[in-house]
Amino acid sequence: MPSQGSRDMRDLAQLRERASAAMKHAYAPYSDFQVGAALLGADGSIFEGCNVENAAYPVGSCAERNALAAAVTRGVRSFQSIVIVTSADSSTPPCGMCRQALIEFAPELEVVSIARDGKEKRWLLSDLLPVAFTPGSLGRTE
Ligand code: THU
Repeated sequence: MPSQGSRDMRDLAQLRERASAAMKHAYAPYSDFQVGAALLGADGSIFEGCNVENAAYPVGSCAERNALAAAVTRGVRSFQSIVIVTSADSSTPPCGMCRQALIEFAPELEVVSIARDGKEKRWLLSDLLPVAFTPGSLGRTE
């Protein structure tokens, strides 16, 4: 069971609500796979994202990375949890690109994914992306 840090049940309910609201705005005409994400900052702030597809398919972006960009844009760079809500029948983990994007800021992130039927799965990001390439991998000293 991943460590939950200071996140409590109330946070989870709120994150789920915010992710579901974001999912309603998903733009997914090509995959018809709607995703919403809500990212909980270390300071308690919450940032949402939905997937935004494009007729030029590779230009599309995932809900998780859009939530991360919204947070970083507001100056928030450390995170406790992310809740992902999808239109799928069973809960799905974040894609590899989103794991890499998130691990830059929060290796110990709690990842909760909730399917349409409300069933959820949880992981620690470091378990989803072991032996990650991180800022330290660049071998630079500040
Ligand atoms: N997608 C996400 O937004 N997050 C995930 O965790 C998995 C995939 C999006 C990308 C694309 O718009 C659609 O779902 C199907 O892959």
